[in-house]
Amino acid sequence: MTLAAASAEVVDWRELAAAGREAVLALQISEQQIEFAGPVARSVAACEAGDPAEVVGLAIRVDTAIVGWVVLKRGASAPDWVADYAAVVGGLRIDLRHQGRGIGAAALAAMARWVAEHWPGTSLLTLRVDDGNAAGIRAYEKAGWAESGERCVGRVGVERTMSLRLRAAA
Ligand SMILES: CC(C)(COP(=O)(O)OP(=O)(O)OC[C@H]1O[C@@H](n2cnc3c(N)ncnc32)[C@H](O)[C@@H]1OP(=O)(O)O)[C@@H](O)C(=O)NCCC(=O)NCCS
Repeated sequence: MTLAAASAEVVDWRELAAAGREAVLALQISEQQIEFAGPVARSVAACEAGDPAEVVGLAIRVDTAIVGWVVLKRGASAPDWVADYAAVVGGLRIDLRHQGRGIGAAALAAMARWVAEHWPGTSLLTLRVDDGNAAGIRAYEKAGWAESGERCVGRVGVERTMSLRLRAAA
């Protein structure tokens, strides 16, 4: 099945019906990619346990199919290195069957629109991505993200910080 990346949209986990939630939990990425993004069940659990004002899980939908997932955190729920005007992106994944078709980059654009609408006080999106994660880095670059700040050593190896400015900081 070929899905039109341009129609990618994001849907809040809390607004998903049971079938949509099951589809999120059934998303598959390779064992190696789990090193980068972690298991989806853990990501969903973190979203459910989080403060709804600071943590949101977004299912990525193209047409009627759930094809991916991403979590956003801000405020006290975000790691210490994240500025108070920023939100951090975590756990992004596109199901293996749909990778490499532009859906990741389109979903990142839809996610930025979601933040502008629902978290208007957030003016920067940021994340740390493993330096060896070429597909991840490329997808972020295609969505307008750029490297920012110094590289650091993370859980798997060297990580680069990447960011997307949504509007001029106040
Ligand atoms: C990262 C991820 C979400 C991207 O989703 P996607 O739908 O495949 O993304 P896109 O198709 O928009 O873009 C991927 C780009 O990476 C490129 N790419 C894929 N594998 C690559 C590799 N091994 N080396 C270099 N580039 C690669 C693709 O060619 C494409 O670029 P192009 O359009 O210029 O050809 C997806 O690969 C994924 O789920 N990975 C596992 C989890 C993960 O790493 N998440 C990120 C954590 S920070």
